[in-house]
Amino acid sequence: MTSPARILVVFGTRPEAIKMFPLIHALKADERFECVVCVSAQHRQMLDQVMEIAGIVPDHDLDVMQPGQTLDGLTATLLTGLGQVMDTVSPDRVVVQGDTATAMAGALAAYYRKIPVDHVEAGLRSHNIYHPWPEEVNRKIIGTMASLHFAPTATAAAALINENIDPARVHVTGNTVIDALHWVSGEIGKRPELAGDLAALEQRFAGRRIIGVTSHRRENFGEGMEQIAQAIRRIAERPDVAVIFPVHLNPNVRHVMNERLAGLDNVALIEPLDYPHFARLLNIADIMLTDSGGVQEEAPALGRPVLVMRETTERPEGVEAGTAKLVGTDAARIVSEISTLLDDKDAYEAMARAHNPFGDGDSARRIVELLANEIG
Ligand code: UD1
Ligand code: UDP
Repeated sequence: MTSPARILVVFGTRPEAIKMFPLIHALKADERFECVVCVSAQHRQMLDQVMEIAGIVPDHDLDVMQPGQTLDGLTATLLTGLGQVMDTVSPDRVVVQGDTATAMAGALAAYYRKIPVDHVEAGLRSHNIYHPWPEEVNRKIIGTMASLHFAPTATAAAALINENIDPARVHVTGNTVIDALHWVSGEIGKRPELAGDLAALEQRFAGRRIIGVTSHRRENFGEGMEQIAQAIRRIAERPDVAVIFPVHLNPNVRHVMNERLAGLDNVALIEPLDYPHFARLLNIADIMLTDSGGVQEEAPALGRPVLVMRETTERPEGVEAGTAKLVGTDAARIVSEISTLLDDKDAYEAMARAHNPFGDGDSARRIVELLANEIG
């Protein structure tokens, strides 16, 4: 029997961990592969929350996170650290996900060693290098080096082919976030207490329309965050509304939100939720208000109207399906869009339909088979 192919899976932030754990579970269950997990820990607590729920213990942990880290400082540390892990592990292939600094540096470190690097969630494009910033460029850089491109949708595959990537290297797999959502829903089904800590808030806000909020995008720091806070304050003037806002640990987000929104009766500023509790929030929210990438994929899958606080999106599928709407970060616009959804039943019903443009929950298995074909 030939020895298993050694796959080094590299990631560092909360959303990468959520989208990688289904693939790690599948690789670890398959004897054709030896799966080695390296986390940069670009995020610390928010990464560890996911690792614990998914039952993954990393083989290598660079523990790079610094409070208020800069893009260049972070990238430099990642590049040398991940390179050293690759020299120690000598993988046959490296797999990265998405568009973070860790994914970009991981791909580059692999390329410098001429190790083939495969890209999960390939081909997302907003066609604006400052929205989202710096992710649009990170994923383009990865695309120039990747061996296999696992595109979540036909739109993403088409974007890669448009950039002259060999179509034979591009595969539509669906997005592993849907695999993750199915998995976590199954776990909650078996053990409801996994998502039980929201019960007190649910009771406190019973009878009100719930708006779930997340926000963390770098391009929204400063004025964007101020506008978002202002919009939430104004919406919270309505007695029929309650806001549940798990606040990202980035100090650029926390500072503004704590300052502007503390002490409001119907606004719960809470710590980042672990994945089962966030899945619960997605289920109890009437509306999601977010600038997150992953939430734009999860909300349509669950039929939750999602207002996206961005000018443009690299995930047009949710907007095309009608479940997502781009509303930017102008406070007046956000308040007006939320009010429409709250007051106009038809407008709400038109958005609240479940669509699964991002996959059927079987993406990790497809990726594993494509990797198996590649190793022969
Ligand atoms: C990063 C990614 C972004 C992704 C987002 C998901 C880059 C450049 N940015 O942005 O693409 O959408 O993660 O959330 O790769 N912090 C903690 N604990 C944590 C996590 C963060 O304290 O567990 C704080 C630290 O002060 C840290 C700061 O947040 O320095 C920023 O973290 P960083 O990963 O640089 O940026 P994000 O804005 O989280
Ligand atoms: N999420 C979570 N807890 C939270 C907020 C979000 O588990 O308190 C999950 C969410 O379900 C989604 C992912 O984190 O899968 C999105 O992460 P984030 O918004 O930080 O990053 P992005 O997707 O924008 O890169």
